[in-house]
Amino acid sequence: NRAQYQKMYARSVDDPQTFWAEQAQEFVTWFSPWNKVMEVDYQRGDIKWFVGGKLNACYNCVDRHLEARGEQTAILWEGDEPQDSQAISYRELFALVCKFANVLKSRGVKKGDCVSIYMPMIPQAAVAMLACARIGAIHSVVFGGFSPEALRERILDSDCQVVITADEGPRGGKNVPLKENVEQALSGGGGCPKVHTTIVVQRTGNSVTFNSARDVWYHHAMRDASSDCPPAEMDAEDPLFILYTSGSTGKPKGVLHTTGGYQLYTAMTHKYVFDYHAGEVYWCTADVGWVTGHSYIVYGPLANGATTMMFEGLPTYPDAGRFWQVVDKHQVNIFYTAPTALRALMGQGDAPVQKHKRSSLRILGTVGEPINPEAWEWYYRVVGERRCPVVDTWWQTETGGIMITPLPGATELKPGSATLPFFGVQPALLDADGKELAGVASGNLVIKQSWPGQMRTVYGDHQRFLDTYFAMHPGYYTTGDGARRDADGYYWITGRIDDVINVSGHRLGTAEVESALVLHAEVAEAAVVGYPHAIKGQGIYAYVTLMAGSEADAGLRAELVELVKKEIGAIAKPDVIQWAPGLPKTRSGKIMRRILRKVAANELDNLGDTSTLAEPAVVEELIANRVE
Ligand code: WT7
Repeated sequence: NRAQYQKMYARSVDDPQTFWAEQAQEFVTWFSPWNKVMEVDYQRGDIKWFVGGKLNACYNCVDRHLEARGEQTAILWEGDEPQDSQAISYRELFALVCKFANVLKSRGVKKGDCVSIYMPMIPQAAVAMLACARIGAIHSVVFGGFSPEALRERILDSDCQVVITADEGPRGGKNVPLKENVEQALSGGGGCPKVHTTIVVQRTGNSVTFNSARDVWYHHAMRDASSDCPPAEMDAEDPLFILYTSGSTGKPKGVLHTTGGYQLYTAMTHKYVFDYHAGEVYWCTADVGWVTGHSYIVYGPLANGATTMMFEGLPTYPDAGRFWQVVDKHQVNIFYTAPTALRALMGQGDAPVQKHKRSSLRILGTVGEPINPEAWEWYYRVVGERRCPVVDTWWQTETGGIMITPLPGATELKPGSATLPFFGVQPALLDADGKELAGVASGNLVIKQSWPGQMRTVYGDHQRFLDTYFAMHPGYYTTGDGARRDADGYYWITGRIDDVINVSGHRLGTAEVESALVLHAEVAEAAVVGYPHAIKGQGIYAYVTLMAGSEADAGLRAELVELVKKEIGAIAKPDVIQWAPGLPKTRSGKIMRRILRKVAANELDNLGDTSTLAEPAVVEELIANRVE
């Protein structure tokens, strides 16, 4: 209840050393104990938890469950087609992970090496991640929806020599050509000269290019591999994985998470936020290519000995009742998804939901973007039949795990609010001058003290870590989100305050889309902003200035959309392209994005101060040619 939460929360922030030491004993099995709980310096971006402690994440997720629940299902896989499913017990998972760890070793992968994983939502993706963790290799999972160009950029940045993929990935009845994309990533541009091995899972069995000097079939390698592979003893601060995410400027950054703190934080949040009980079936619909898949399909649930579902398909395939059909089929108790999926399903009416019983459901969750109260209510009322608490969980790739969230039973819910901080998390709201606001307020959301799941650095660019998260408000971790706090102390996330947009729960930097657009020979300049979109949350609105003499037509528009798809992936395709002969700039040449955002959102009454514009007439032109 609320009183218990408050008591435990107070202890977690008043005496974090004792609190986290207790949690670390409870949730994690250590090979040897730490000598200091935390050592944190936000000035230098030096963050350490459980200093000197030794553990292995794969051991925590797999080996330690063998005795008590070896035959229990660890991974419950549901394929794209409703007749495809598979249950893998902890004992089977153990054998697979050990074998695959040996396959990686046989291809020269050592502790500290980085391995890229570009895979569909199949159990082998989790096996690959855990096998890396077992031998101390750092995995870098790249979402299967990213283009070959985006994949190459990430392979090069992380210096990977081994890539794990599949022939194809079925989704919604279509096959994503993953191996072909890897082929293009490795051969296009300057290529990836260091990659000497690609390991290919046969998923569809359709024929793909196979380069016998470099490619290895997963099933061949596994056949010959030994299942004896002791887990490497890792330091609490040894890297566990890199995951690329978009920022407001430049190329995506490799968010680095380490072993001890991350393992503890994901396990603990999974247990408390979803009130996980032994034997329950838990389903997070995210893709392993995003942090939600890392923390709440793999590391959190498996550390708790859960049965975790992995779903390969789409919520609308073969029909809009798929989620609920799967809930009944596998008697799912806890269900965690994204607001964008709920909005899309809500648009199809209640019938596809009501066709299925859903009586096993106990807890519902959302993540990834603000959930509008209307979608929240629908989820609560129609899907959960007012029986199941909805946990709206706010967090980020950088935070490793859930930060602001209701706890079922303990927190009174308010539709649209992520409610209260998790144990040990101290949010604050700052005004534009960096002053901390008290009571009811709106401002920049920052976090005061470190928590174990916090990212440790930007891979290969520690200065960028400092600049992005600690420079604007010294002494705080800056989230990049804005938020409001109400009279009950509840937080309402209002969205990004930087140039990051959130399209269907996919995080993109407007700068990335702009860089793709300006690659076109006929484009002189491009400015991209997000705008409210009924289903995606935010859509992508691009203002494009062409070279003198270029013709703005449908053909060019299609070429630009295609170019963005090629450079980043289909998720980044602009929804709207407006031809803009001029962009609103200050006299010093800086684009006034605020104005572009307002025009895109059709909020024309209050454009704010335009007196500093070099050419005020540009705004009239933009409004006149606004695309509906
Ligand atoms: C950004 C982080 C967290 C894993 C998936 C996304 C937005 C996330 C919520 C929520 C309002 C949310 C924020 C945040 N966001 N959850 N419950 N309510 N906004 O991770 O790709 O790193 O994106 O997603 O803007 O900063 P991500």
